[in-house]
Amino acid sequence: MFTSWKSLAAVAVGLGSFVSQANCETPEHPELTWISEDPTLPKVVIYNARGTILSASNYSRLDNVNYGSGPPVTVDQIIGNVSEVLKLAQLAVVSFPVSGGSAGLNSSLFLNITQYANRHLCTEGSDIAGGIMFHGTNTLEETAFGVDLTLNCSKPFVATGAMRPDTYISPDGRSNFFQAVATAISPAARDRGGLIAFNDRITSIYYSTKTNANTPDTFKALEQGNVGAFLGGQPYFYYTAPSYPNHRPHFDVTNTTELPSVIILYGHPNRGLRCLAHLYEQGIPTVSVTRSVTGTGAPGTTEGPVFYATYLGGPQARIMLQLAINAGLTLDEIRDLFESPLRDAIYAPAPNNEWYY
Ligand SMILES: *[C@@H]1O[C@H](CO)[C@@H](O)[C@H](O)[C@H]1NC(C)=O
Ligand SMILES: *[C@@H]1O[C@H](CO)[C@@H](O)[C@H](O)[C@H]1NC(C)=O
Ligand SMILES: *[C@@H]1O[C@H](CO)[C@@H](O)[C@H](O)[C@H]1NC(C)=O
Ligand SMILES: *[C@@H]1O[C@H](CO)[C@@H](O)[C@H](O)[C@H]1NC(C)=O
Ligand SMILES: *[C@@H]1O[C@H](CO)[C@@H](O)[C@H](O)[C@H]1NC(C)=O
Ligand SMILES: *[C@@H]1O[C@H](CO)[C@@H](O)[C@H](O)[C@H]1NC(C)=O
Repeated sequence: MFTSWKSLAAVAVGLGSFVSQANCETPEHPELTWISEDPTLPKVVIYNARGTILSASNYSRLDNVNYGSGPPVTVDQIIGNVSEVLKLAQLAVVSFPVSGGSAGLNSSLFLNITQYANRHLCTEGSDIAGGIMFHGTNTLEETAFGVDLTLNCSKPFVATGAMRPDTYISPDGRSNFFQAVATAISPAARDRGGLIAFNDRITSIYYSTKTNANTPDTFKALEQGNVGAFLGGQPYFYYTAPSYPNHRPHFDVTNTTELPSVIILYGHPNRGLRCLAHLYEQGIPTVSVTRSVTGTGAPGTTEGPVFYATYLGGPQARIMLQLAINAGLTLDEIRDLFESPLRDAIYAPAPNNEWYY
């Protein structure tokens, strides 16, 4: 495919004279333009939904608070500042329309990203090794979770971002970017479900949440732990693959452009959620998640009108419920989707059924 690569037009794009943004379009993915130093390197697509990783402060090198209004950094600039990535991979960028901070986003974004990623990574014969996603950290876990449940192949999809703007005295985004690419090209990263590469650690998208509003060590799967870590910029995996999150479902959203609305109700003293059974009577599925930082609520011995999400946080359960309703699942099927892993674990094996029934 690359026999005529050197003869194709090359356009320098501010990445240094050794880099060319050549029109070496793959026949299957004509919209991708590869930034490449070496056409034998694996290909990685950057799904760019921006965020702090591409933010700059116009105040000071210590500003990690008020940088939102600084002049934005381009993907070319971060590649220029992390030029080592081009020794690892050829890169192509697909940028998605995002306005305002990541808190203003909705599920149209993950539907769009996953449709591109499925086309690029999961079509038969695709020569693309993996994908990475830049995303604002406030809602990274939602968009990443949506992609994780809808990407239909075993190739690595690695979400990353930053807690510090690119202008900080030691920006975390540049290192996170390198580590995400190193993960995306790693054969050992396949067959694990979507991953987050952030602050020297690899976690499973399925179980990860942002645990700190300010510091770089923020994405954690507090209960399930790290999938791996980085040494010398390279990923080290603690467990062999395949190793998927238990009971992670898959939904096809090839033709979906919008998802049904699902809201989150927050329970607290003086505001019990006793009304939930009424929602079930009206045919409205309601999923209960623990308010604790991690862990799970557990269903009772008999099936009730409120469904319990197996080890999912509220933002994740919300997206899974949207996908389940969109897929046309009945109330009973939705209950099974969320609860049956817990029911099987708690109530099915002997002698447990003797203890409870
Ligand atoms: C920072 O940038 C914003 C818009 O990008 C501008 O309104 C503001 O005046 C700038 N501040 C400084 C100190 O340059
Ligand atoms: C590095 O990033 C800064 C913005 O933070 C940008 O001004 C500069 O051009 C980048 N360097 C390269 C080589 O692209
Ligand atoms: C999906 O992403 C593409 C590529 O950035 C963009 O052109 C398109 O407008 C997006 N669609 C929606 C519905 O956001
Ligand atoms: C989601 O966000 C996109 C981009 O801002 C917007 O065009 C679309 O109308 C939004 N969809 C919903 C359901 O709010
Ligand atoms: C791909 O999609 C099919 C049909 O929806 C599903 O059964 C299968 O589990 C999916 N594979 C992956 C790796 O998600
Ligand atoms: C999506 O739409 C195409 C074209 O109408 C159709 O061939 C395909 O079966 C649809 N896929 C799903 C999963 O609905």
